[in-house]
Amino acid sequence: MNIQSILSDKIKQAMIAAGADKSCDALVRQSGKPQFGDYQANGIMAAAKKMNLPPREFAQNVLANAHLSDIAEKLEIAGPGFINIFLNPDWIAKQISHTLSQPNLGVQTADTQTVVIDYSSPNVAKEMHVGHLRSTIIGDAVARTLEFLGHKVIRANHVGDWGTQFGMLIAYLEKMQNEHASEMELQDLEAFYREAKKHYDEDEKFAEKARNYVVKLQSGDEYCRSMWKRLVDITMQQNQHNYDRLNVTLTEKDVMGESLYNPMLPSIVEDLKKQGLAVEDDGAIVVYLDEFKNKEGEAMGVIVQKKDGGFLYTTTDIAAAKYRYETLKADRALVFSDTRQSQHMQQAWLITRKAGYVPDNFSLEHKNFGMMLGKDGKPFKTRTGGTVKLADLLDEAIERATVLINEKSNNLSDTEKAAVAEAVGIGSVKYADLSKNRTTDYVFDWDNMLSFEGNTAPYMQYAYTRIRSIFNKTQVDLTALYTAPLMLVDEKERLLAIKLLQFEEAVQTVGREGSPHILCSYLYELAGTFSSFYEHCPILNSEDETIKLSRLKLALLTEKTLKQGLDLLGIKTVEKM
Ligand code: ARG
Repeated sequence: MNIQSILSDKIKQAMIAAGADKSCDALVRQSGKPQFGDYQANGIMAAAKKMNLPPREFAQNVLANAHLSDIAEKLEIAGPGFINIFLNPDWIAKQISHTLSQPNLGVQTADTQTVVIDYSSPNVAKEMHVGHLRSTIIGDAVARTLEFLGHKVIRANHVGDWGTQFGMLIAYLEKMQNEHASEMELQDLEAFYREAKKHYDEDEKFAEKARNYVVKLQSGDEYCRSMWKRLVDITMQQNQHNYDRLNVTLTEKDVMGESLYNPMLPSIVEDLKKQGLAVEDDGAIVVYLDEFKNKEGEAMGVIVQKKDGGFLYTTTDIAAAKYRYETLKADRALVFSDTRQSQHMQQAWLITRKAGYVPDNFSLEHKNFGMMLGKDGKPFKTRTGGTVKLADLLDEAIERATVLINEKSNNLSDTEKAAVAEAVGIGSVKYADLSKNRTTDYVFDWDNMLSFEGNTAPYMQYAYTRIRSIFNKTQVDLTALYTAPLMLVDEKERLLAIKLLQFEEAVQTVGREGSPHILCSYLYELAGTFSSFYEHCPILNSEDETIKLSRLKLALLTEKTLKQGLDLLGIKTVEKM
């Protein structure tokens, strides 16, 4: 249940009944301060201005037309014309019971959409590095969230598995096979790529063979195809290992590499020419976009086919958008990639729209993110300045968490400790990324992410175990809590109950905006609200059995909400820490 949208709708109706335009917006938001109520309608002033009415007078009319008696116990006009809304405890109690009894914590599935989520998208014959980490982690949390909201999610791992570099890679794979290279040698993809490039640059015979293989691969030559396939497989096996360690839901089935769109490219370029969108310019095929200006202030040219006949990253993304709409029958397509690719995505999609490959209501959204920086504020690198391999980063995370858990958790067995270290180590890396607004650059800092204080994985995981331990200490039959009456007497109880009901607002925002940090902030606030409730309102020591059950009920819903929320983020919880 989404309190914000219920209130928004009801107040909007009252505004319309009081004479406002149908397009008015009540702008209901959670209040920042308790004296302003639980929610606040901020849209009154703007509507009143349009109607030439004094805002407070219009606010009066709105209140006279509002049907909120069950939800709100008090409505108050404040300042120049805000409406403060104080929720009714009986209504809150009813909603809490309902939420607890529903699967999915009562979260409503609105109109179900098919959403394609393009994320992770590493490149073949290259080791996944930290640059792909953000896309993988954030994209996966959004995929889980949209699925939870009832949408049909199609995961599209847009792997870079095509391009002229494959000639050189195939030639080098052949060379290594002829020299009976071990599996081990093939596994080191960075070295493999480096060596292939070196041969290509330094050995003219090798380079010629490589060029020949590109042509053969593109024309479907069986030998080149199978060598190419082998490179893809080796890469994706390694990536799969990273995904599994990261608790990311991607599988081999989700691979939709660039090569998939290859057969579409010639006809797209033909069609763009036919439509007059693309023109020949010095042998290349170019689309000039007025919406983008080059340095000289002229319409920017986007090449869709090179002079040598090769297609480009942009051409593939035009095809991918078309495919998502036409073949996958999607309503919405998201791409999680670096902000530096924003212009590229916007151009590809503008061409897609101009060519009429997708209708206006088909939503194409670039969910861009900033860079991952080291503590020195520069792009995150190894000490020697190289790119950090993802696998090494995860090893280090677990090592560091192991040290931490060995210090902190004395009452765990060795196997328990190992499981906790894994959950905390991996969880920390993920949560540190998820909890930041994705569009800004973020500083990767081990000490911060592994801290038990603040908005971190260990803090959240620990908060969860603390609630678990309450239930481990009580004999109360949990099923009784579902029907137990909820008593919201103390202000801390009321605040916790409202916070619990705001889960859906957070989840829906994540689904809409592709911004998991909203859910992290929510869960962090929920844990904090629970903590202050727990300090002020004794649960197990409570004298009164009804109060004890009521408080346990709040604790149970908090536990479930934290668990569900962390699960949507792909963060594992443990029973004890
Ligand atoms: N493979 C690309 C990279 O490593 C990311 C692909 C993002 N998705 C897309 N449809 N362009 O930068």
